[in-house]
Amino acid sequence: MLQDEIIQQAMKYTERLFAGNSDGHDALHTLRVYKNAQLILESYPEADRFVTLSAALLHDVDDHKLFKTENNANARAFLREYELPDETIERICDTINVVSFSKNKGRTPETSEGKIVQDADRLDALGAIGIARTFAYGGKVGRSLDESIQHFYDKLLLLKDQMNTDAAKLIAARRHSFMTDFLREYDQETGK
Ligand code: NI
Repeated sequence: MLQDEIIQQAMKYTERLFAGNSDGHDALHTLRVYKNAQLILESYPEADRFVTLSAALLHDVDDHKLFKTENNANARAFLREYELPDETIERICDTINVVSFSKNKGRTPETSEGKIVQDADRLDALGAIGIARTFAYGGKVGRSLDESIQHFYDKLLLLKDQMNTDAAKLIAARRHSFMTDFLREYDQETGK
């Protein structure tokens, strides 16, 4: 099967897997991360396109908050349906694992593919979409608005300086300044 067809199938797979999830870790998040990765890839011709895009689409399918899988079981189950070399499957799983904060403890990925997918995922935590996701997730886990606001200072405002690629740094800078505008307005309206 052609690589592009496998990528199309991976999109459908995540739609099925995340059906019913609406906390910001869902098929639409996956699709945005995929599009971010496509954009960053334009400046990284040396990265393996198929590994990068597959990892972008599958990066949350074994997320421990959603699934109780071990050793990338969902990603492997999907990839094994196609006649891909073991080495390619391992590279995709390695890329997924360096992106996962819980598995990688926030270390910088060594490969171009890992750098791109990590940036693509982090970009989705920034800007208007980052704000929307923070409150959607906060509501789901019972956080107050102020607790969600604290998450910006604890984590989201730090992401701009943690981007690996120049392409992502540019997008992150704009999204970051949108968030700081939002926080300023929030403080003003709530009388802080
Ligand atoms: Ni993600």
